[in-house]
Amino acid sequence: MCGIIGIVSDKGNLKERIIEGLKRLEYRGYDSAGVALRKENGIFVRKKKGKVSQLEEELREVEVNSRVGIGHTRWATHGEPSDPNSHPHSDCTGRIALVHNGIIENYPQLKEELRRRGHNFRSQTDSEVIAHLVEEEASRDDFLEAVRRAVNRLEGSFALVIINSDEDALYIARKDSPLVVGLGEGESFVASDIPAFLPWTNRVIFLENGEIGRLSFSGVEIYDFQGKRKEKKPQVIGWSLAQAEKGGYRHFMLKEIHEQAKAISDTIGPRIERDTNSAVIEDLPLAPRHIKDVLILACGTSYHAGLVGKFYFEELAGLKTDVDYASEFRYRRPVLSPSTLVVAISQSGETADTIGALRKAKEMGAPSLAICNVVGSSITREADSVLYTHAGPEISVASTKAFTTQLSLLYLLAVYLGRERGKIDREQESGLLSQLLSLPSKIEHMLREQEEKIREIGVDLSSYNDALYLGRHLNYPIALEGALKLKEISYIHAEGYPAGEMKHGPIALIDENLPTVFIATESKVLDKVRSNMEEIKSRRGKIISLLSGEHPEIEELSDGVIKVPLVDEYLFPIINIIPLQLIAYYAADFLGHDVDQPRNLAKSVTVE
Ligand code: G6P
Repeated sequence: MCGIIGIVSDKGNLKERIIEGLKRLEYRGYDSAGVALRKENGIFVRKKKGKVSQLEEELREVEVNSRVGIGHTRWATHGEPSDPNSHPHSDCTGRIALVHNGIIENYPQLKEELRRRGHNFRSQTDSEVIAHLVEEEASRDDFLEAVRRAVNRLEGSFALVIINSDEDALYIARKDSPLVVGLGEGESFVASDIPAFLPWTNRVIFLENGEIGRLSFSGVEIYDFQGKRKEKKPQVIGWSLAQAEKGGYRHFMLKEIHEQAKAISDTIGPRIERDTNSAVIEDLPLAPRHIKDVLILACGTSYHAGLVGKFYFEELAGLKTDVDYASEFRYRRPVLSPSTLVVAISQSGETADTIGALRKAKEMGAPSLAICNVVGSSITREADSVLYTHAGPEISVASTKAFTTQLSLLYLLAVYLGRERGKIDREQESGLLSQLLSLPSKIEHMLREQEEKIREIGVDLSSYNDALYLGRHLNYPIALEGALKLKEISYIHAEGYPAGEMKHGPIALIDENLPTVFIATESKVLDKVRSNMEEIKSRRGKIISLLSGEHPEIEELSDGVIKVPLVDEYLFPIINIIPLQLIAYYAADFLGHDVDQPRNLAKSVTVE
């Protein structure tokens, strides 16, 4: 998984814009970066291990007046991060250069064949074979035809942008890795994701699997892999540039944490009929009364949203619900029926495991629904129906506002299904939705009142090597997600556990060096959580509590307390995760880590 960009523009001087685009794509990988720019008599290539800013530094003095260029930011799969393994890759003549996102599974065979035909390879990557394949084909065909023939020989996944030294044009192809075209005035763009070119255009065309194309100053021609011309209509994207920038915050993550109240309002607002306070769900693949059970498939943070969704579907809609890691589901022999509603949850809509699991569920005849944030992404195109979260672009690798919008939408969907299936009446529905509508202002209030306190707790936690996160019932998934956030960005080992299970193992770890974050907001199991706290305290463990309402006895047991506003029990997961996101943020920032781009991770994992 990597970020790729290409620009062809009659305005020239593309170096700065390609670097700017790459910076917006860096969330997809940051092991190395590179650019290729067509110049008067050839192609200029510069690529380097490290971040885009290092490449930018290296290019500072370089002047190349180019009207077509490509760029790449890498998350290494085949071949360690190094200068030669960085993209763009070139053919033997240096007259072709390309950037690739994906994995070419048959590259060993192709490489062997090309070697025998005299091609020289300079890297250990799978991607370089594509440049040599195109070189072979280009010797007997026009360039588009050469690219078409070459991609027809590839097995695996690819988003490709290719240039040659003879023309101001970008050649593109896609199979199972994302690629979006942007249409401007006298210029065209292509990238892995829209924010890369959002400063210059919001008119986009999503490339689909099996499509190939040619971009010039005046637009794009698209064909299928057999060479048949396709007509595609551009869409106008509602995202603003401000949403893709830091807007005065030190990091995207902090900005995105603070955007959650608005993101939730944007997600639920259009789906609640205000006069009657009732839920409106625009698109489902199966009538609510025909749904027998639900299966949720997701990865990472989206999987944790699914775990909360299980409570919602079971308790509000009376639907038995299973939640599976997409990567596990793919290789099991699950039992599904045409009345199992399969819900694939994904921020990016490009997670390879979730796409694979969704395909498998579809093959088994189950109707599918995507809950997704990125418009036009692969999962939204493959699922039978889509419900979008309206979180806006999420740039920080650690997911925050995508999670809380997923939870809000799952809650709304469960209320809708509960009503349609006769499990809750109109009055109960109205009450549940009023609670949901009041959530954004409560989140804003909490951030105003508690952020400084949370910062202190985060800084304090940064001095430990490990942390335990405990919660019960609806808050168990929040303990998992809180621990995941800390691990991802502060690199402190953290474990989320059901508070009641702690006595069956993790209690052996408790001493003064292991702090425990307890999610102890109002719930029917609060007394039991308090007993679990006593068990920790009597073993000299340090306790940080998330509390709502007045509970002096819990405050007494705690070394640090964060106060969360009172909300309905079902909505606590949505508000409780926010202080835990901030704890992780402030711990990581205090430790001097790169919060938005933590080591080894990438935002969208488009490989298995
Ligand atoms: C990656 C990201 C996580 C994310 C997961 C699933 O691992 O680093 O933050 O939760 O992918 O991504 P998705 O886009 O499918 O929600």
